Amino acid sequence: MQAEYAYVLEYLNFAIRWLHMIAGIAWIGASLYFVWLDSSLLPPKDQPSKDIGIGGEVWALHGGGFYRAQKFSVAPPELPTPLHWFKWEAYTTWLSGFALLVLIYYVQADVYLIDKSVMDLTPVAAVSLGLGSLIVTWIIYHLMCLSPLGKNEPLLAGIMFVLLGLLAYGFTHVFSGRGAFIHFGAVLGTIMAANVLFVIMPGQHEMVRAKVEGRAVDPIHGQMGKQRSVHNTYFTLPVLFVMISNHYAGFTNHRHAWAILMAISLAGALIRLYSVLSHRGEKRHMLWMSGYGILIGLFVALWPKPADPSLAAAVKFADVKRVIDAKCAVCHAAKPTFPGFAAPPKNVVMETPEQLRTLAAQINQQTVATRAMPPGNLTQLSDEERTLIGAWIAGGAKLQ
Ligand code: HEC
Repeated sequence: MQAEYAYVLEYLNFAIRWLHMIAGIAWIGASLYFVWLDSSLLPPKDQPSKDIGIGGEVWALHGGGFYRAQKFSVAPPELPTPLHWFKWEAYTTWLSGFALLVLIYYVQADVYLIDKSVMDLTPVAAVSLGLGSLIVTWIIYHLMCLSPLGKNEPLLAGIMFVLLGLLAYGFTHVFSGRGAFIHFGAVLGTIMAANVLFVIMPGQHEMVRAKVEGRAVDPIHGQMGKQRSVHNTYFTLPVLFVMISNHYAGFTNHRHAWAILMAISLAGALIRLYSVLSHRGEKRHMLWMSGYGILIGLFVALWPKPADPSLAAAVKFADVKRVIDAKCAVCHAAKPTFPGFAAPPKNVVMETPEQLRTLAAQINQQTVATRAMPPGNLTQLSDEERTLIGAWIAGGAKLQ
């Protein structure tokens, strides 16, 4: 039964993740395109376009065809059919992302969400904190946008950045590294999808209703929708980073993981700001330079420190083998004994001395450099044991 259960989880993980990626590409692709479109609009030159209320237009060449996209200042005189809406991309992305969050981080909270060396949470407490954070941050953000603060975008952005920094700090002090990062991304993704569901779509429905009933369309709905879609565009690069962050335990398990997360988010937002402005013809090179500057700074700051060579000489392989048998091979064996594992994760098996020697670099990366393994420190690998493993590898991973 256990093997079937693990198989079902793994298969669902795959199927939903694939869907999440496809929907996410459709959503973010459309979102990037429309922001580009808006920034590239030029006033129409011909009188008929001006007469029907076109505020701006773009000519484009793509896939062997000429396209002319026109944006009405408020709304067209007649409601056209069919009229394309863009919402299911957003909803599907959020729903599949949430399903993945539940499947990986909530169903397997002990393995992926909780790290007892960070905080000894019960699964129920951890999951409640995670879910609560998604709801509370949306409400705070939404109220800030509706308040007078919503009219001062730079101030709003500054306050949001500080609040998100506090949240990142909080997450990394209650959850595992991966769990913290994924919740940061889930908070941003939830704000993005909720912007579509609760602000952009209702505004568009009201615009359409006004049109059908022959009332004048209030431009406030268009403006509010625009504000939220601009916010969404600055969240996209940080969210995409979080989606891939669980491959980079050097970030997620770092002592200052929250600062790394905020630095990369800031870099992403600056690079995005550069591209948005450059479509409008403003080339603010300082923006992308600062973004990449942050990334390079991070690379230098995280440069690995070499192991102490004097320790390496004193290490006995038998001690290393004993630690790995007890703390790693419970999962990384042809037939794992750790509950919930039917097969060795990532096919990494650490049973024979030769296997250990072949895997030495990876073992060092996972346990010493990034502290990614054991996940959530489930088998409680101590700092002394990590130093022992690091020293053994620094000494050439000898089998005696
Ligand atoms: C509770 C089970 C468990 C224990 C104990 C465990 N691992 Fe892992 N290990 C995993 C899982 C799950 C993955 C796959 C992680 C992923 O998908 O990102 C993994 C992946 C790995 C990888 C491959 C990483 C990659 O991305 O290629 C290495 C190397 C590794 N573990 C080393 C170790 C070492 C060394 C120890 C002991 C200090 C250890 N693991 C203990 C579950 C475990």
